[in-house]
Amino acid sequence: MVVFLPPLLLLLLLLSGQLVQTSSHPHPDSCRLVQTAALCNHGQLSSVPLGLPGFIEELHLNHNHIQTLQNGPSYPALHTLSCPDNQLETVGSKFFSHTPLIEHLNFAVNNLHVGYQETSRALTTLSQLRVLDLSDNGLTEDMASVLLQNLTRVEHLNLSRNLLLRLDERSFRDMHQLRELDLQRNSLFEIDGAFLHMHRLQRLNLAFNYLPCLLNFQMVQLLVLNVSHNSLEWFISNQDLEETFQLETLDLSDNRLLFFPFLPTRSHLRNLHLSKNRLSFYEHLDSNATSNWTTSIHFYNLGGNLSGVMARLWSDDLHGDISSLELLDLSWNQVSYLPHGFVGSMPILTWLKMGTNCLEVLDLSREQLPGSLYELDLSNNRLTDLRASGGSVGELGNLTYLNLSQNSLQRLPSWWFSSLPSLVSVDLSSNPVGVCPSGHQDDSSCVVWRNIPSLKQLQLAGCHLGTLPDSAFSGTPLTHLELSNNPELIIQPTALQGLSRTLQHLGLGNTGLRDFDFSHFHHLKSLNLSGNSLTRLPDSLLSLQLTCLDLRNNRLSSLTASQASSLASSLQTVLLNGNPFNCCRLDWYWTFERTEALRMVDSWDVTCLGLDEQTHRVQLLSSPSCESEGEESVFWYVLLFLSVALSLVGISALCLLTFRPRTLPRAIKKKCWRPTPY
Ligand SMILES: *[C@@H]1O[C@H](CO)[C@@H](O)[C@H](O)[C@H]1NC(C)=O
Ligand SMILES: *[C@@H]1O[C@H](CO)[C@@H](O)[C@H](O)[C@H]1NC(C)=O
Ligand SMILES: *[C@@H]1O[C@H](CO)[C@@H](O)[C@H](O)[C@H]1NC(C)=O
Ligand SMILES: *[C@@H]1O[C@H](CO)[C@@H](O)[C@H](O)[C@H]1NC(C)=O
Ligand SMILES: *[C@@H]1O[C@H](CO)[C@@H](O)[C@H](O)[C@H]1NC(C)=O
Ligand SMILES: *[C@@H]1O[C@H](CO)[C@@H](O)[C@H](O)[C@H]1NC(C)=O
Ligand SMILES: *[C@@H]1O[C@H](CO)[C@@H](O)[C@H](O)[C@H]1NC(C)=O
Ligand SMILES: *[C@@H]1O[C@H](CO)[C@@H](O)[C@H](O)[C@H]1NC(C)=O
Repeated sequence: MVVFLPPLLLLLLLLSGQLVQTSSHPHPDSCRLVQTAALCNHGQLSSVPLGLPGFIEELHLNHNHIQTLQNGPSYPALHTLSCPDNQLETVGSKFFSHTPLIEHLNFAVNNLHVGYQETSRALTTLSQLRVLDLSDNGLTEDMASVLLQNLTRVEHLNLSRNLLLRLDERSFRDMHQLRELDLQRNSLFEIDGAFLHMHRLQRLNLAFNYLPCLLNFQMVQLLVLNVSHNSLEWFISNQDLEETFQLETLDLSDNRLLFFPFLPTRSHLRNLHLSKNRLSFYEHLDSNATSNWTTSIHFYNLGGNLSGVMARLWSDDLHGDISSLELLDLSWNQVSYLPHGFVGSMPILTWLKMGTNCLEVLDLSREQLPGSLYELDLSNNRLTDLRASGGSVGELGNLTYLNLSQNSLQRLPSWWFSSLPSLVSVDLSSNPVGVCPSGHQDDSSCVVWRNIPSLKQLQLAGCHLGTLPDSAFSGTPLTHLELSNNPELIIQPTALQGLSRTLQHLGLGNTGLRDFDFSHFHHLKSLNLSGNSLTRLPDSLLSLQLTCLDLRNNRLSSLTASQASSLASSLQTVLLNGNPFNCCRLDWYWTFERTEALRMVDSWDVTCLGLDEQTHRVQLLSSPSCESEGEESVFWYVLLFLSVALSLVGISALCLLTFRPRTLPRAIKKKCWRPTPY
C-alpha cells in the first residue's frame, strides 16, 4: 500500500522517526523508515526494536540474529511482520498481544521446530492472519498440524522445504479458507484426504516430493496443480464427476508416468506439462484377437466412499477433456506415434512440444494440426519422413516456430515451408536434407527456401549440404542463417544473392571455407568462421561493422594493423583460440586488448608460436614483443651479454692503441726486447 503524504508532513514523520530512533534501544540505527514501513534488514538485531514510531504498519527484520520473539512491541497498526532468515526458535505466546491486526507473517528459514508449541499459542491470537510463510523451518507433519491449529482465516500458506512425510485429514483441519498452499520440497510420499475440506484451494504446489501416484483427483475448484519432480506412475482423476473442473494448469513433468494422465472428463485445462516422463501410447497392444493380456486396471481403496476406479489400459481414448489445451509439453518421453484424432481434439492448441521422443513418421494430413498452432517442436526424434498432402498444408496459418532438428529427415514436401504464411523460424539442423535449385520440379529430397516472405531465421547446420544453388534464398528476407558443420559446403558467389540487405548473422563454422566476398552484406553483425583452416582474414570483412566474430580453429598467424583497427572499431565479442599466431607479430592483439568495448571471450586460451618454436599463452607474454621466456632465453641473454662485453673490450683496446700510438712501439719493443739482427 502506498500512502501519499504532503511533503512537509512526511518530513515531520521522518524526523519524529529519527528522533524516536536515536532516543531508544536496541540497535535502532539499523532501521530505516520508508513511509509506514520500518526496514531493519541485514542488521545485527537480536530482538525487535522497540523505539520505532507507533504508526508503523510494516516491520521487516530479514537476515538478523533474532532467536526468540518475546516481549511484544506496541505497534497497534502493524499488519506485516517479516522475519525470515534469523535463528528464530520460539515466538512467545503473548508476543502479538499489542499487534492484533497482523495479517501477513513471514518466518521463512528459521528454526521454529524447536519452540513450535509456544509459537502455536502465539499464532492463534492473531485473528486477522491471512498470509503465513513457515517454509524451511525443519517442521515435521505433527509439528505443522500443531502450529496450524485454529488458524481458520489463513488464505496463503507456505510450508515448502520442511520435513513433511505424510498428510491426512487432521493435518490442516481448521484451514477452510486456504487458497494457496505451497508444499514443495518436502518428503511427502502419502496424502490421504488432506485437502478434501479446502473448498477454496486454487493453487497447490507439491513439486519435489516422493508421491508415487495421484488417484481419484477430484479438487474441482483447483486452478493450478503442480506435482512435478515426484515419482508419479499414475495420475487418475475422478472420471465420474459431472462437474466441470476449473483446472487450468497441470504440471506433471519429471515423474514416471507410463500412460497419458486420466484427466477430468470436463475441464478448462489450458497448460499440460508432461515432459520427462516415460509416456507412450499403446494402441498396438489393444487387440482382442491376438492376446489375452490384462486390458484394464482397477484401483481399490481410494478412500472416501468410492468403490474404485477402473481404466482400460491399452485404449487410446483415455485422455479426458483436452479441448481447451493451449500448451502441451510432451518432450522427453517415449511417444512413437500420436493416436488418431489426438491432436485434432485440441482445436486451440498453440504450443506443441514433442522434442526428444521416438516419433518415426508424421503424416500432417492425417494429424489435422490445428490452425492455431504457433510453435511446433519435433526436434530429436526419429523422423525420416514428413508427409503432407495438398489439402492439409496451408492450413497452419499461425505456425511461427518450427523445430525439426536432430531427426533423420530425408523426405519432406519441398514446398511445405512456402505454404506457411506466418513462419518466422525453422530449425532443420542435423537432417540430411538439401536445398532445391531453382526451376526444380517436385522432389522431396530437398527443400525450396525461395519466396517465403515471413521467414527470418533458418538453421541448416549439419545437413550434409553440398553446393548451394544460385539464389537459393531469393525472396526470403533471412536475418539469421546458420550453415555451420557442413564440411562439403560450396557456396557459389551468387548463392546468397538477395540476402545482402537483410542478413545479420551468418554461421559458416566448419564449412571448408577458403575465401568469400562479404562486402555486400552491409547489415552483417555476427559471423562465425571457426574451423575453416583460413590462413588470412578475407579483406572484404573490413567494410562491415561486425559486432561478433568467431575465428577459432583456423590457421591465422597474424592480422594486419589495418584489419585490427578496422575490426576493433565495431567488434564487441571475438573468439580467437586455436590459431598458430606469431608471437613476434601481435600488435593486432594488443590493439584488440586496448579496445575497451571489445570482449576477448577466450583470451586466456589464445596462444602464439615463439621464435623457439614453442607455444606461449599470449596473456603471459609480458610485453608486446616476441621475446620468449624460460631457460633458453636466459641462455640467449648471457650469450648476448658476453658478445657485447667482448666487443666492448676489443673496441676499447683498439681505441687505447689508436689514441696512444707511442705505447704500441714500446709494447712491441718490450716484447721483442732483443735487438733485431738487421
Ligand atoms: C484451538 O481451539 C480449541 C477449541 O476452541 C481449543 O481447545 C484449543 O486450545 C485451541 N488451540 C490452541 C493452540 O490455542
Ligand atoms: C514459499 O517459500 C519458498 C522458499 O522460501 C519460495 O521459494 C516460494 O516461492 C514460496 N511460495 C510462494 C507461493 O510464495
Ligand atoms: C512447478 O514447480 C516447479 C518447482 O517450483 C517450478 O519449477 C515449475 O515452474 C512449476 N510449474 C509451473 C507450471 O509453474
Ligand atoms: C475389441 O472388441 C470390441 C468388442 O468386443 C470391439 O468393439 C473392438 O473394436 C475390438 N478391438 C480391436 C482392436 O479389435
Ligand atoms: C492366454 O490364452 C491361451 C489360450 O487361449 C492360454 O493357453 C494361456 O494360458 C492364456 N494366458 C494367460 C496369461 O492367461
Ligand atoms: C492466430 O493468431 C491470432 C493472434 O494470436 C489469433 O487471433 C487467431 O485466432 C489465430 N488463428 C487461429 C486459426 O487460431
Ligand atoms: C531446436 O531444438 C534443439 C533440441 O531440442 C535445440 O537445441 C535448439 O536450440 C532448437 N532450435 C531453436 C531455433 O530453438
Ligand atoms: C561457430 O560454429 C562452430 C561450429 O559449428 C560452433 O561450435 C561454435 O559454437 C560457433 N560459435 C559461436 C560463437 O556460436
